[in-house]
Amino acid sequence: MSKRIIIAIDGHASTGKSTLARTLAQKLNYVYIDSGAMYRAVTLYAVKNNFDAEQIIDHLDEISISFDVSGQIFLNKENVSDEIRGMHISERVSEFAAIAPIRQKMIQIQQGYGKDKGVVMDGRDIGTAVFPQAELKLFMSASPEIRAQRRFEELKSSQNVSYEEVLQNILERDDKDSSRKTNPLRQAKDAIVIDNSNRSKENLLQYALELVEKTLN
Ligand code: CDP
Repeated sequence: MSKRIIIAIDGHASTGKSTLARTLAQKLNYVYIDSGAMYRAVTLYAVKNNFDAEQIIDHLDEISISFDVSGQIFLNKENVSDEIRGMHISERVSEFAAIAPIRQKMIQIQQGYGKDKGVVMDGRDIGTAVFPQAELKLFMSASPEIRAQRRFEELKSSQNVSYEEVLQNILERDDKDSSRKTNPLRQAKDAIVIDNSNRSKENLLQYALELVEKTLN
C-alpha cells in the first residue's frame, strides 16, 4: 500500500477549507474530519441546555461526538450536521472553542482519528496543536468580502440572514479565534499559504493534489 500521510488544513472562517478537505479526502480515499463541526456540536449542546462557558465544563462527560463514513456528525448519536450550521451556533462557537477543557477533549478525539494516518482534517489549530508533525500543512485565507459572499450564498435559502450579518460573524470569529489564549488560530511555520479569493474549487483541488504528490515523493 502506498504511503499515507496527515494533511492539516487551517485558516480563517469560511475560506473553503472544508470543501477542499472533503474533496481531497475523497480523491485520496482518506478519512475527512471537520474539526470545526466538533466545536459547533459542543456549542449546540451548551446552547440547548442553557449552559454558559463556565457551566459546560462540568458537563463535558455527557457529550459524545462521532462521524460516519460520509462525514455526517453525531452528537450523542443524533445527526446534527444541519443544525450546527445555524447562525445561533456560529454566533456562540468561538466563545466555547476558547475554553481549554473543551479543546483538550476535542484534541484527544481528533488525534485518535490520525492514529493510522490517511486523514485530512481542517480547522484552526490542526497544523500547530493537533498534528504538529503533519506531513502536509495548508493555511487558507481569502478576502473577507469574498468569504462572506460565498457563505451567504450557502445559507440564504435555509436561513433568515443577511450578507452583512454573515460578514460581521466571520470577522468576529476570526478576531476571537486569533486572540484566544489556548491554541489560537495561527499559521504553522511550515504551512503552505493559499489565497482562495480567486481560485475555483477544481483549480484548488488540483493544486492541493499536486502538493500531496510532491509530499509523497
Ligand atoms: O466553516 P467555518 O470557517 O465557518 O468554521 P468552522 O470550521 O465550522 O469552525 C467553527 C468555529 O470552531 C471556529 O470559528 C472556531 O471558533 C472553532 N474551531 C476551533 O477553535 N478550532 C478548530 N480546530 C476548528 C474550529
